[in-house]
Amino acid sequence: MSDTINGSVYIADLPDKVGQEVSLRGWLYNKRSSGKVRFLILRDGTGLVQGVMVKGKLPETDFTAFDRLTQESSLSLEGVVRVEPRAPGGYELEVTAVHPLHVASEYPISHKEHGVDFLLNHRHLWLRSPRQQAVLRVRDEIIRACRDFFADRRFVLVDTPIFTPTACEGTTTLFETDYFGDRKAYLTQSGQLYLEAAALALGRVYCFGPTFRAEKSKTRRHLTEFWMLETEVAFADLEDIMALAEALLCAVAVRVLENRIAELTFLERPLAPLQAIRPPFPRLSYTESLKRLTAAGHQLAWGEDLGAPEETALSQMYDRPVLIHHYPKECKAFYMKPDTVDPRTVLCVDVLAPEGVGEIIGGSQREDDLEALLTRIKEHHLPQEPLEWYLDLRRYGSVPHSGFGLGIERLVTWFCGLHHVREAIPFPRLMDRLTP
Ligand code: 4AD
Repeated sequence: MSDTINGSVYIADLPDKVGQEVSLRGWLYNKRSSGKVRFLILRDGTGLVQGVMVKGKLPETDFTAFDRLTQESSLSLEGVVRVEPRAPGGYELEVTAVHPLHVASEYPISHKEHGVDFLLNHRHLWLRSPRQQAVLRVRDEIIRACRDFFADRRFVLVDTPIFTPTACEGTTTLFETDYFGDRKAYLTQSGQLYLEAAALALGRVYCFGPTFRAEKSKTRRHLTEFWMLETEVAFADLEDIMALAEALLCAVAVRVLENRIAELTFLERPLAPLQAIRPPFPRLSYTESLKRLTAAGHQLAWGEDLGAPEETALSQMYDRPVLIHHYPKECKAFYMKPDTVDPRTVLCVDVLAPEGVGEIIGGSQREDDLEALLTRIKEHHLPQEPLEWYLDLRRYGSVPHSGFGLGIERLVTWFCGLHHVREAIPFPRLMDRLTP
């Protein structure tokens, strides 16, 4: 679809405009001069194009405007579109008019290397760089692919609250707020409990929203604010949601490979690992994974949770995501249903992405029995009163049900081949970073 805004066209649409006189608007990415010919590289968010200014072929004042235009100045260009295989993007503009809109002050981010802290302090400007734009486009594609995946299967999007009265994923990572002076409210750690209520209303549901965890660890996988896609399915068991998680990841990989090859190539992301995302994914119980880890030299006693080094090691053993299921009850949340065969374990699954990325999905079959759930709430020292509404779900037509949550930034990190999750979100929130 070709678009215009106030008569200007977008760089991405130039292939349809060869030979035509057009107007473009954007920002100056770079410029260079070779005497009577001057080149302006314009970016407009849809691409880059080279504008060629030849002395005498445009008004002299427009030709000399080149000297005033600094990196990131905003401007509009008029000219004729030409095919030029050597130019960035494959097209160029034979410029007939230049209109500076705003001449930028000296831009802090140059085309040379900068330190990460400097770039993060300038995140509002850093987003303009081609690399960051590529990451944001992949993120957008991933999110749309996820939404389409669920919509195509008749799942209903149900939005869950941000202010919550209780913990969902343990009390140590809660962000507490003062709710009108008389109560505490916590920023949501997961929409799951609400999604369970919605699943008992609508059958198959999902939510997608910001999630908050006061993570005190500085790792390359943890943000304090991240976006989670969660799903909940009435009558589903652990097997069902393992299959659903596998299908989701495969569908997202196909979509990103269909539509975002240019961005992945720009990011120098090898494509083979993404092409390998095909069913079936290997499945290992926690106990089996412990055996593999022990054989690889890790020392972990049965019952201990897998940490980042163990997850990394396991994920490096396979070329595609691996599903680790049946963790010990002690490692996991209060709402997970114990396995009837081995009640020391719960019906849960973590999906670990390969290439050392680690956990991207966590899910489980939920405890659907009222008495068993009450016992679990007591064992976890959680207050019962604020969870009464949740217990109602086990009082009125309780059914087996299961679901999972996918951390979008971890998926973006993996797909884009990034080192740190902070580059996978427009404005990262970390323990030591709240600005910009
Ligand atoms: O395994 P988690 O804690 O699961 C839940 O929150 C469940 N209530 C989800 C559900 O069943 N509906 O988190 C799910 C995923 C993780 O696998 C990870 O990808 C991501 O959320 N995640 C984080 N991402 C970035 N920074 C953090 N601090 C994260 N914590 C979890």
